[in-house]
Amino acid sequence: MNKATISEIRKQFDKTLEEVHDAAALEALKYRYLGRKGKIADLFSRIRDLSSESRKEAGELLNRLKADLSAAIDARTAAFSAPREQRSYIDYSMPGYAMHRGSRHPLTQAVDDMLNIFQRLGFDIAYGPEVETDWFNFESLNFPPDHPARDMQDTFYTEGGGVLRTHTSPVQTRYMSTHEPPLRIVAPGRVFRNEAISARSYCLFHQIEGLYVDEGITFADLKGTIERFCRLYYGKDVKIKFRGSYFPFTEPSAEIDVSCFLCGGKGCPVCKQSGWLEIMGCGMVDPNVLKAVNYDTERFSGYAFGLGIERMLMMRLGINDIRILFENDVEFLKQF
Ligand code: DAH
Repeated sequence: MNKATISEIRKQFDKTLEEVHDAAALEALKYRYLGRKGKIADLFSRIRDLSSESRKEAGELLNRLKADLSAAIDARTAAFSAPREQRSYIDYSMPGYAMHRGSRHPLTQAVDDMLNIFQRLGFDIAYGPEVETDWFNFESLNFPPDHPARDMQDTFYTEGGGVLRTHTSPVQTRYMSTHEPPLRIVAPGRVFRNEAISARSYCLFHQIEGLYVDEGITFADLKGTIERFCRLYYGKDVKIKFRGSYFPFTEPSAEIDVSCFLCGGKGCPVCKQSGWLEIMGCGMVDPNVLKAVNYDTERFSGYAFGLGIERMLMMRLGINDIRILFENDVEFLKQF
């Protein structure tokens, strides 16, 4: 044994260490060099064959070699246990990070599906602002000044005297004030209500408004369109019920119920044990609304409807708490 042997061993070790990429290989390397029967131990045992003058020097060299190899192995052990992003080498055997693909929110999907159906039925799409004037949200739609919907308890008012629209109906008068009949539109969007938050109601939700104005439009046109829409969206077996109702901006007015999918009409918490779910309001546009936008009420008539997306969607997906649609919980959303 001489200096050359020792530096040869050091070189071999450095080369092998470079090729070590996991903890098991490192452990094997350590055993091979620093183990009880390893290369270093072997060299130490051969010291006694040397002449007495060379022994001291060889002993010093070997001690240094042993200390250096131990330090190199310790450093690499620490590197293996460091968090992945702090490691200075690349471990090609590590599994990669999974990429999660995003998807459209179920509410967006539902709105898109419904708009597609209405477009097939000949409707254009129109939009209006979320912060509305009192005139468009209430006045133009024939709400009397003391209507309870105007109460602060029900409506969010902005500092400048605007309102967060409480429904998409103001898009009706907005659109009519810049277009002449005939017109046939659907208007999707968010609406806001100052209500107690519960499983069934939230401070904001989505609606789609529909409006058709032309000469000679009747309730039969409304009925046909709504029935067609419900069958295309829910499937041909859905049951539909028109129930007389009241809205300031339609006369006559109706509400539409569809049979509850969740319980098949037997009764469950979502349909409040009735077997029916109310999905929309509708009616013939009140002449006062047409007058508000200077339409000739002798010549033109129309129908309107407004439907709540969340309720429809909850029914479709079997969700019984509306709040989950607004929580952005990835575990929930990634199912869609
Ligand atoms: N705007 C009503 C609401 O939010 C829904 C509605 C009812 C809209 C009847 C209509 C309609 O266009 O004709 O409750």
